[in-house]
Amino acid sequence: MNTSELIYFDNNATTPLDERVLESMLPYFKNDFGNSSSSHHFGKRINNAVQKAREQISSLLNAEPKEIIFTSGATESINLGLKGCAIAYQSKGKHIITCKTEHKAVLDTCKYLEQIGFEVTYISVKNDGIIDIEEFKNALRKDTIIVSIMWVNNETGVIQPIEDIIELTHENDSIFFTDATQAVGKIPIDVYELDIDLLSFSAHKFYGPKGIGGLFIKRGIKVDTQLHGGGHEYGLRSGTSNVPAIIGIGKACEIALEEMKVNSEYVKYLQNELEDRLLQIKGTYSNGNKSNRIYNTLNICFPSFDANFFIDKYKNIAVSNGSACTAALVQPSHVLIEMGLSEEQALGSLRLSLSKKNTIEEVNELINIITTYLKR
Ligand SMILES: Cc1ncc(COP(=O)(O)O)c(C=O)c1O
Repeated sequence: MNTSELIYFDNNATTPLDERVLESMLPYFKNDFGNSSSSHHFGKRINNAVQKAREQISSLLNAEPKEIIFTSGATESINLGLKGCAIAYQSKGKHIITCKTEHKAVLDTCKYLEQIGFEVTYISVKNDGIIDIEEFKNALRKDTIIVSIMWVNNETGVIQPIEDIIELTHENDSIFFTDATQAVGKIPIDVYELDIDLLSFSAHKFYGPKGIGGLFIKRGIKVDTQLHGGGHEYGLRSGTSNVPAIIGIGKACEIALEEMKVNSEYVKYLQNELEDRLLQIKGTYSNGNKSNRIYNTLNICFPSFDANFFIDKYKNIAVSNGSACTAALVQPSHVLIEMGLSEEQALGSLRLSLSKKNTIEEVNELINIITTYLKR
């Protein structure tokens, strides 16, 4: 397929690479190919570039460069943060709290931790996708070591009230971890102001390369190493550094910091257009809390609609429905089901996630296609 014809509204799955990010990475595939751990001058020069990237990330998050660990992406960061912390603090307690609408990377890591002797409480969400705070308060215990609540939901864009959750978590003397994969690079984040203990992210969600991400670990928080070897990343994550990708995530963070305001206003305008006009279709409604939602994500339920069929029918449109396909069986999104939608409603919902590269012409075309399809 010619990608110039592609109407791409699946930016929560991945974003296109920013040209400037690509440019910044290219020298590190060619002349600057060195190993950042080598002790010669060539290696040291590469290491300086890696440290610069660490600084670019820490500026975006208002962290210290030493508090950033490079990983292969959010999934690895979540595994390192949750397993590493659970093991490091197990003498204090073995109870963890998370939420039912988290990404599978968190839910499956928690399931694994249950298998090795930890106890996990999964908190419900209300119909609008916001965590049930009362249920959360009641779940906190003396032996709760970690609370893991995502910042922005990848399917609905719902933003959790993490300020309140952090306060309650710290009052209980527990550690707060947030999967911020859909927040970093999109909304302002200040880990110090919010007193976040651990935070995970992936570059490809904000115009950076795939296969690189990071974990913020507040100074003083203990994390047990999950990848042993040459002692890279302060001994927490061994393995030769993926230098071009590290340079790329650094550049993506720098651009995000500079252009976040302009981009968010532009994308919000596109989102408003898309939502307002789609909601004019009879029987259509938005899933998730509208006033606590990120500016690039819509999740819309259409009447008598089979989202999978639609996605399959239009080969030049990339949208998502959050369902999982296992053994030829299409399962509705666990997030929408937890929000109280029926299976039919969940399977009739589309996630439309926008980026700075989208245009109003694409928005118009998508609306036309959906409207025509529904009329038939
Ligand atoms: C909220 C959230 N967490 C974690 C991940 C996993 O990110 P990655 O596949 O880059 O490891 C994703 C990716 O979709 C996500 O949206």
